[in-house]
Amino acid sequence: MILITGATGFIGRQLVYRLVAQGEHPRCLVRNIQQASAILPADKVELVQGATTRAVSLGAAVDGVDTIVHAAFMTADRKQSADNHYEATNVGGTANLLLAAKAASVKRVIEISGLGTKPDRPGSYMQGRYLAEEMLVDSGLDWTIIRPSVLFGKGAPFITGLVNLLQTSPVVPLIGGGKILFQPIYVEDVVTVIMQVLAEPERTNKQIYTIGGPDYYSFRQIFDVLLQATHKRRPRLYAPLPLVHIGAAVMEAVLPKPPLTKAAMALFSFDNITDLNSVERDFGFKPQSLKTYLEKQGV
Ligand SMILES: NC(=O)c1ccc[n+]([C@@H]2O[C@H](COP(=O)([O-])OP(=O)(O)OC[C@H]3O[C@@H](n4cnc5c(N)ncnc54)[C@H](OP(=O)(O)O)[C@@H]3O)[C@@H](O)[C@H]2O)c1
Repeated sequence: MILITGATGFIGRQLVYRLVAQGEHPRCLVRNIQQASAILPADKVELVQGATTRAVSLGAAVDGVDTIVHAAFMTADRKQSADNHYEATNVGGTANLLLAAKAASVKRVIEISGLGTKPDRPGSYMQGRYLAEEMLVDSGLDWTIIRPSVLFGKGAPFITGLVNLLQTSPVVPLIGGGKILFQPIYVEDVVTVIMQVLAEPERTNKQIYTIGGPDYYSFRQIFDVLLQATHKRRPRLYAPLPLVHIGAAVMEAVLPKPPLTKAAMALFSFDNITDLNSVERDFGFKPQSLKTYLEKQGV
């Protein structure tokens, strides 16, 4: 039995559909059964209501489970609220899940983390993501951590945010000069990686896989390909990092869904890249390029 947390999320839902297509009947931990039934193939999965932040709800979810794919995280692009807090979800939620998993003799946990996860200031978003990995590594369970770069694919949060910006803003804001590098990877390719990790427990045990697509793009170049794909022209505006930090703080204070959060600014403090052949080297296939995807599918 496989349990998926974050099954209604961008990656989780594609994983669920792939597993179901292969004849699996995964269990999905979901916070709202009704909403989850509209997103997931409800007749082909087992929906268990609960939240990683509510330890008491996890016993039923982990009962009889062999492997957990843990993708229930609060990502940096989301604004915090009373029910959704970085620390409570990413650190507290992971701690609760691991405790429940051990109590139920779960064998292994596959954590979907992010490229560039590293120790940071206590209480910061990045430190929370780092602790979530460390807790798993120290848990005594079999583990695999997958750290993808930013994802593209239908409804991808990062690309959707940029396209919305292109559609509403008269200028392209080149955060920090637009030089930070990204290595966008297709969501279906990330799912293929997860499927291989699921299928090869011995080879992938106690491994961290940092994965990215077949090309590096600067932030500026991502805007360029999106402008090309949407047939738009926009002047570029250099946006110095300190100014963008202030802008993000203001937007977060006043907007329910800000286009940029303070935590997401962490993405612009390092190149979000790994080896160009990371997927082919570790998983034996060539991931799709962002340009090819946009030519075939549009934004
Ligand atoms: N998307 C990317 O570009 C990208 C890139 C690199 C790494 N990643 C990593 O991949 C993982 C999954 O990302 P994603 O893009 O799929 O995220 P997402 O679309 O924001 O989905 C998050 C999922 O977690 C669930 N969730 C949040 N808090 C929960 C809680 N307390 N209990 C149970 N479920 C909870 C959400 O459920 P609800 O439906 O109830 O909200 C949703 O299903 C994250 O670790 C992320 O950092 C993503």
